[in-house]
Parts: sequence; C-alpha cells; structure tokens
Amino acid sequence: MACLVIVGTQWGDEGKGKVVDLLAEQATAIARFQGGNNAGHTLVVGGDKFIFHLIPSGVLHQDKTCYIGNGVVIDPAVLLTEMDRLAERGHAVGPDKLKISERAHVIMPYHQALDQAREKAKGREAIGTTGRGIGPCYEDKAARVGVRMIDLLEPEALTRKVEENTAAKNYLLTGYLNSEGIPAEPIIAQYLEYGRRLAPFISDVALELDQVLASGGNLLLEGAQGTHLDLDHGTYPYVTSSNPVAGAACTGAGVGVTRLNQVWGVVKAYTTRVGGGPFLTELTDGTGRWIQEKGAEFGATTGRPRRCGWLDAVVVRQSVRLSGMTGLCVTKLDVLTGLERLNICVGYRQPSGELLERVPASLTQLAACEPVYEEFTGWSEDITGCRDYQDLPETCRAYLERLAELAGAPLAVVSVGADREQTIMLREAWA
Ligand code: GDP
Ligand code: IMO
Ligand code: MG
Repeated sequence: MACLVIVGTQWGDEGKGKVVDLLAEQATAIARFQGGNNAGHTLVVGGDKFIFHLIPSGVLHQDKTCYIGNGVVIDPAVLLTEMDRLAERGHAVGPDKLKISERAHVIMPYHQALDQAREKAKGREAIGTTGRGIGPCYEDKAARVGVRMIDLLEPEALTRKVEENTAAKNYLLTGYLNSEGIPAEPIIAQYLEYGRRLAPFISDVALELDQVLASGGNLLLEGAQGTHLDLDHGTYPYVTSSNPVAGAACTGAGVGVTRLNQVWGVVKAYTTRVGGGPFLTELTDGTGRWIQEKGAEFGATTGRPRRCGWLDAVVVRQSVRLSGMTGLCVTKLDVLTGLERLNICVGYRQPSGELLERVPASLTQLAACEPVYEEFTGWSEDITGCRDYQDLPETCRAYLERLAELAGAPLAVVSVGADREQTIMLREAWA
C-alpha cells in the first residue's frame, strides 16, 4: 500500500498528465482532488493524444478506478462530453471505472457568467482566468450556498438552491457588472438531466479511497494547476481559487494526512505561464518565441499562447518546501536541445542589492527584483531516444543535477518527449 501525490511546481502545464499516466501503470486508483476544467492534462500514448480536463489522467489504463474527489469543481457538461469523446475512441468510462464525489461542488452557468463579466470589468487588471467559472464556484462553496453533486439527485433541494442563487447572481450581473441575467428554470431542468446521467457514478469517494488503501492498493493523487497558482501560496491575486499544493490532496480527496507516502513535483525544464501576473524570468525576445514554438506552448484548455522563460529555481525550491516534495519529475528537457547557453535563476536581486531566495508576498517588491542567473552550456544531441540517465549528454545532466541541488529534492523522472515511452525513471514511485 502506498499513496503518492503529483503536483505542479510552477504555474501549471508542467506535464502532470504525462507523469500521472506513466505512474498509473502501478496504481490501483487515481484521484483528482482540486481545480476543475481550468485544467488541461495532455497524454500521448503510442502517438495518440488525449486531453483531460476533469477525468483523471490514469483513465486509459485497464483495471484502474478513477475518482473525482470532493475538492474538485465539476462542470457536468464538460465531464459528460469528455466521457462521450473517450467512448468514441474506444475507452468507454462506466460507473465501475469512474466515481464522482457526492460532495464535489458543481459549476453552474451563473458561475461562468460571473467569471467572464468580472474579467471584462477588470480590463487591463484582468487575471486572465480560463473563464470556466472556477473562482465563483469556489466562492459559493466557501459562502455555503453552493450546489453539490448530490443536489443533482434531489430535485427539491436543487430547485431551491438554483432559485436563490440566480436571484442573487442576477442582481450582481445586471446591477453591477453590466451583464445579462440568467433564468432559473432552464438551469434546473438541464442540471436534473445531468443528474440522471451521472447518478450511477456519484458515490462516497473518501470512503472508497480509504478502502483502496485498506486493501493494500496504491493510490495516485493527481494535482491540477501549479504551486504558484495556489490561492494561499501563489502570486495572489494572479492565482486560481483552489490549493494546488500537496496538502490539499488530503482535504480534496478525503484522505488522512498520515496516509501520504510521497510527493513528487513536476518541473518543466523551463518556465511557462498562461494569463496575467508576475514572471521574473520571462523571455520576451527571440529565445522566448523559440521555446514557445519548439515546446508547442499553447494552452490545452483555452488555446492561448503560454508566456515562456528560463527555469526559476527560486520558484521550484519554494514549491518543494510548501509540499514537502520527495522527488522531481523534470519534463520537456528535449525542448531545450539546440540552445547554446541556458540560464537558471538562483535568486532575486532587490534594489538594495540584497539577494532574495524566496518569492515575496508583495507583488510590488517582486516587480522591483531582477533575476540572478547561473549560466549553463547547452547540448545539441537528440535526447528523445534516451531511456537511461547515463545516455543523456554530460551538459544536460549538469543542468538537471544543479536544478535538483538548488530545489532541494532528488530527480525521480526525466521526460524527453511527450509520449509515455519517452521517459527516464530514476526512483521507485511505490516503494
Ligand atoms: P499539465 O497540465 O501539467 O498536464 O501539462 P499540459 O498537458 O497542459 O502541457 C504539457 C504539454 O507538454 C503537453 O502537450 C504534453 O504532451 C507535453 N509534454 C509532456 N512532457 C513532455 C516532454 O518531455 N517533451 C515534450 N516535447 N513534450 C512534453
Ligand atoms: P493545469 O492543470 C495553467 C491559470 C489561468 C489564470 C489563473 C486563474 O493544466 O496545469 P482560473 O480559471 O483558474 O480562475 O484562472 O490560473 N490556470 C492555469 N494555468 N495550467 C492550468 O491547469 C491552469 N488552471 C488555471 O490561466 O492565469
Ligand atoms: Mg495543462
């Protein structure tokens, strides 16, 4: 029995989907614990590409059960579409394969409307959200007025909640946000229909995950987003509305803290960010565009181009500390092949000359900092066929080893291509 958590160390899109798919091979169950369909997790298996927004990235493996935990916010339309598309591709997802927490909150049309209207109203100050209604859904959860999956099975409860919520939200939408209101009746009918389709999948996920562990199974907990998008620990307010740190795996899946054995952090070999917010090592020059193009850095959810820059070890080290990471999974190393020189940011120089080795809470303080770089020699050999660590060029290994040293966690996985096979394993996940 072992329990392994996979989380992002940067601003999301580190390659968590690929790593989860890979490690799912030896898992009994795979569970998502936070975020919603703001996530876009890509897997490539034997050349076939799949993008998952809500369904855990272990779903392509036979005989594994996938769970959507209570901490996830669910847009039922997106979930059903995802299930239908998988079925069309020969991967039918039945109630024996996918279980959805009865306690998970549901994204409603008024959440999306509020998300989009607020972003519009913010203008240049916009966060650059995915517009999927994530923030407003978590707001309702905290305000104790949210709709949960279980409500989709109880028409009276759903009707009352939707009527109360639309009255309040329409007041905001029309009176303050200069937007249009949304009538309650069609929502009620539509969501009751979703409830009918999803009823066989809805269960007590926390209880079932406990049974997986109690019967000696391996549990893989799949994070979404990344540590620096964390509501508490990220570059607030340019963050998401959930906690992508590993601690959230316990609350968001209902697994006791003493059950977790390992936390592996996924690190892209450079840095990307979608949406607004500070990014000290961002490259707005030709090198940034070169990385963007070579790494195909366009969002898996919204298709927006991802901002690209050098690897920031301050960011990664902070993530290792916040989640107690026991291993690093470095992805997209192959994208850097061909660059003569590489940089890793090792600290932030403040106007006073002092070196800062953590990300400050103040965005004003952060904006005044300059990144301090350590320079590395690149490599030009094709590494996409490497399956053994020693096969990697020496300069490539030096880059990885310095990253591990700066971050304060050992290398566990090195990914040299998008495909499941293009991987070098350095540590045992389920020990
Ligand atoms: P996630 O949100 O963390 O799961 O990451 P995304 O799926 O949004 O973005 C990662 C992208 O990089 C996807 O298109 C993956 O297929 C791709 N990818 C993952 N690992 C590698 C790798 O080692 N090399 C290359 N070239 N692509 C990779
Ligand atoms: P995965 O799981 C990258 C970003 C958005 C925006 C901010 C808030 O694929 O790594 P939200 O819609 O959550 O309120 O938007 O967070 N964001 C992500 N960026 N990868 C993600 O998920 C993200 N999910 C949210 O771009 O800046
Ligand atoms: Mg993604």
